[in-house]
Amino acid sequence: MASEQRSPTALPALGKSAQNVLNQMDALRTEDVRWREGRAFSLAYFAGSEVQTLAEDAYKRCAGDNALNTAAFPSLRRMQSDVLDYASIWLGAKEGSAGYFTSGGTESILMALKASRDQFAQDRGVSRPNVVMPTSAHAAFAKAGAYFGIEIRRTPVKSDWRADVDAMGEAIDENTIMVACSAPHYPQGVIDDVPAVAALAQRFGINCHVDACMGGVSLAYLERLGRKLPAWNFSVPGVTSMSVDLHKFGYTSKGASVIMYADKRTRSFQGFITDDWLGGMYASSGMLGTKSGGPIAAAWAVMNHLGDNGYEALTQRALNATTRLAQHLRQHPSLQLRAEPDALLLSFGAKDPQQLNVFAIADLLWTKGWYVDRQTPPDSLHCTVNAVHDQVIDLFLSDLDWAAETALQSGTTGDVGQYGTMQ
Ligand SMILES: Cc1ncc(COP(=O)(O)O)c(C=O)c1O
Repeated sequence: MASEQRSPTALPALGKSAQNVLNQMDALRTEDVRWREGRAFSLAYFAGSEVQTLAEDAYKRCAGDNALNTAAFPSLRRMQSDVLDYASIWLGAKEGSAGYFTSGGTESILMALKASRDQFAQDRGVSRPNVVMPTSAHAAFAKAGAYFGIEIRRTPVKSDWRADVDAMGEAIDENTIMVACSAPHYPQGVIDDVPAVAALAQRFGINCHVDACMGGVSLAYLERLGRKLPAWNFSVPGVTSMSVDLHKFGYTSKGASVIMYADKRTRSFQGFITDDWLGGMYASSGMLGTKSGGPIAAAWAVMNHLGDNGYEALTQRALNATTRLAQHLRQHPSLQLRAEPDALLLSFGAKDPQQLNVFAIADLLWTKGWYVDRQTPPDSLHCTVNAVHDQVIDLFLSDLDWAAETALQSGTTGDVGQYGTMQ
């Protein structure tokens, strides 16, 4: 495909008024998905205008503050530490555990693998490390492997989409530093057998990361709402680190996640320190240097505002919508659920992929303002359901039926799309 030619936009010679700039920005944003109205089943989460306004106000207050050096910003040190304490309760972290606030799930995962790489290089002299995980584990693990020179060994999932723990065991060798699994994983929304994966780690004396970027908040509250779940967090012996995203089901502004370690020693391998330059001692905990106070302040404010009761209510609303969607798909004439959802996300495909192309459904839904994720293999659509969907799920289901029927009748093929883009 010929690349699109675009002449560079010049910086205005004369600055424009603030109002003018904001008007221009609003005009640019008219095509964006209306996630505050529940139109996005991916990428964005909405807990209502009050929570959103609080997050934005808190963000605004601290957006220019810099957590690179909390000696100058003790407020950010305190807020980060509070947020880590709150998250550690959700994760069932025990005495002695320690974490860091990061910019997102990807950074949390990158840091977990980097810390393990450096730990095993020091302790056991492993110079060609590998990490074993099922094909369902998030793409961020592959990114960590590419960034940090770690081989990512993918093993198949079973027919229930959960990790094949025997296959993981067979893939482990003397250079394996970690096994990883998810609670739940992104593609089909099911929780891996964390106790079995962690037991493998114990058997081989290696680390075990549980990726709870999606589930770290919602599973904690689903359990409080009475849902019986398999063990998924630090309550499982052998789990050495976990990731949980606050900018997903924590309903705070983007740029907020937590990486938590079972002990301070493993965490100590995450950071970076140098004084080999002319600027003095430089230490940083993660990928970032300058670290905006905005996401930290927004997370702290939203978590304190919502409290346990607020998160429980939001989880109930998201669960209502997930249950409606799953029930609808179970009875659908042309669509099928890939797996019974363990949490608040699911995927579905065509009963007969020769007759019905699911990406055509996604294209049609977008014409009505709905954004769903597209994934392969197999060709599927994916919905991450949050509290806002409780208000719109019936409308979505009727548009989904219309789109499925229209795609079936027309026999068109839609765009396979991408999970993430490079622009
Ligand atoms: C299970 C899981 N892990 C990791 C990530 C990566 O998170 P982020 O996009 O915040 O970097 C996601 C994102 O959806 C996810 O679903």
